[in-house]
Amino acid sequence: MAEQRSTVNFANLEQRAAALLPPAHPPGAALRLICELLQAEVPHYDWVGFYFAVPEQRMLALGPFAGDPTEHVRIPYGRGICGQSAETEDTFIVPDVSAAENYLSCSVATKAEIVVPVFLNGRYVAQIDIDSHTQDPFGPEDEPFLKRLAEMVAPYVPEVFDPAE
Ligand code: SME
Repeated sequence: MAEQRSTVNFANLEQRAAALLPPAHPPGAALRLICELLQAEVPHYDWVGFYFAVPEQRMLALGPFAGDPTEHVRIPYGRGICGQSAETEDTFIVPDVSAAENYLSCSVATKAEIVVPVFLNGRYVAQIDIDSHTQDPFGPEDEPFLKRLAEMVAPYVPEVFDPAE
């Protein structure tokens, strides 16, 4: 596992993700392409997606993603790993989902999950959710990388998703 992680050049991936943002692509396409890039380039990222926050309804709405379709298109705050992240506005790193009590299964193949908040001007507007088919796959670089990515995409979230609609 450690070997797999060390093959990932996160700094390079960050630059490649930044290059997909406007004006290269419209915001919605850019977010989808970033999901596809991460899923393709990081061996332990098997499902990569954005959930957008609808604070008035205390609900998450599925946004662009790469990987198998999921039944979890809307997730109430507090439910599952994603909902807990929305509720607490914290990062969640779950190395073994079978040991997590409050977990919503997307795929039987998923063994681990990381959820990182996206803040815009201090407001929780979205989250990046990643499922892994590898148990305990996340190293010291994953969270800081995903937080930088979250900062990078945050300004585009309102252009892709309007919680009032
Ligand atoms: N596993 C998540 C649900 C979303 S899917 O992973 C795409 C959770 O427990 O919140």
